Amino acid sequence: MSRVGILTCGGDCPGLNAAIRAVTRKLIIGYDYEVLGIKNGYNGLIEGDVQPLSMYSVSGVLPRGGTILGTSSKNPLLLEHGKEAIKENLKRFEIDSLVVIGAKSAIDVAYELSHDGVKCVAIPSTIDNDVLGTDFTIGFDTAVNIATRAIDMVHTTAESHHRIIVVEMMGSSTGWIATYAGLAGGADCILIPEIEFTLDATAELLKKRHKRRKFSIVVVAEGAIPTDVPNFQSVSSKVDALGNTYLCSIGEFVGVELAKRTGMETRVTTLGYIQRGGSPSVPDRILATRLGVAAAEKIKNKEFSVVVGVVGNKIVSTPLENVTDNVKKVNLEMFDTASTFFG
Ligand code: F6P
Repeated sequence: MSRVGILTCGGDCPGLNAAIRAVTRKLIIGYDYEVLGIKNGYNGLIEGDVQPLSMYSVSGVLPRGGTILGTSSKNPLLLEHGKEAIKENLKRFEIDSLVVIGAKSAIDVAYELSHDGVKCVAIPSTIDNDVLGTDFTIGFDTAVNIATRAIDMVHTTAESHHRIIVVEMMGSSTGWIATYAGLAGGADCILIPEIEFTLDATAELLKKRHKRRKFSIVVVAEGAIPTDVPNFQSVSSKVDALGNTYLCSIGEFVGVELAKRTGMETRVTTLGYIQRGGSPSVPDRILATRLGVAAAEKIKNKEFSVVVGVVGNKIVSTPLENVTDNVKKVNLEMFDTASTFFG
């Protein structure tokens, strides 16, 4: 009997459990396969930390956020003998193939493992929506809903106090969440990594607007880089106690700088991990279920080293090597549409 391992890797997002459920049920019911859950991303393969998944294991998990398997963002290939430990445990637990649910960093590892004969199928999941080969990643729609709701919520206080409110959103090196939520929330300015901007020009836009409306909502993606601030990167990222670098605080920086340039009262809200929380939206539940079933079918058909995705609402698959070189940048037509309403 074929045995398939499933792991979730990287930043968690709503919809992971829906994907785990879909893969597991399709493999067990559809193809009479055995399924093993691998705990905490690739760590579970390094440490041999696995648990059988049954129909019961995934019962009721569809609407639950997070991941029942746990996750980790650590790259196992950076560990000495990491690849060997993974291959040993794949053999030990008689895992014939892997379903990797994660973002580009998880897919990069799967691609590397595929060179050593590890049979993988990837499912793109991250709130950032920055994975090539799919129009949308699992978790993105839910994050956009959360971020849009946040804009609606700060809109009333900005208007009441005649303030600039800066809202910082996640997205790593892309501005998908900022662009979609900014458009949906009617932001007066959206700052993203894909579009060059200066704080001076942003301030001029807001000062011009304030002749007409005495408040503004400025959405800034965490990876955005103002071009009129030398060596800005040192401002926008921090290193945690374990040495991991993470983006943060561009919102605070932009807030202070805009206040200086406009003379307007300014406040900042950083959405942070709220964007990754809670129950998946209906579109994310549907996307996760469709991609989970598609991944199981790829396993059954022995079509490995691919990432499944949805393009034009059709399920597609893309070779892993076609999505490992770059992240998917924001669709500039969408940004141009949003910019119609700036100022
Ligand atoms: O990749 C998803 C994401 O939420 C990014 O938007 C964010 O920059 C990063 O994860 C945060 O990573 P961590 O959870 O390791 O702090």
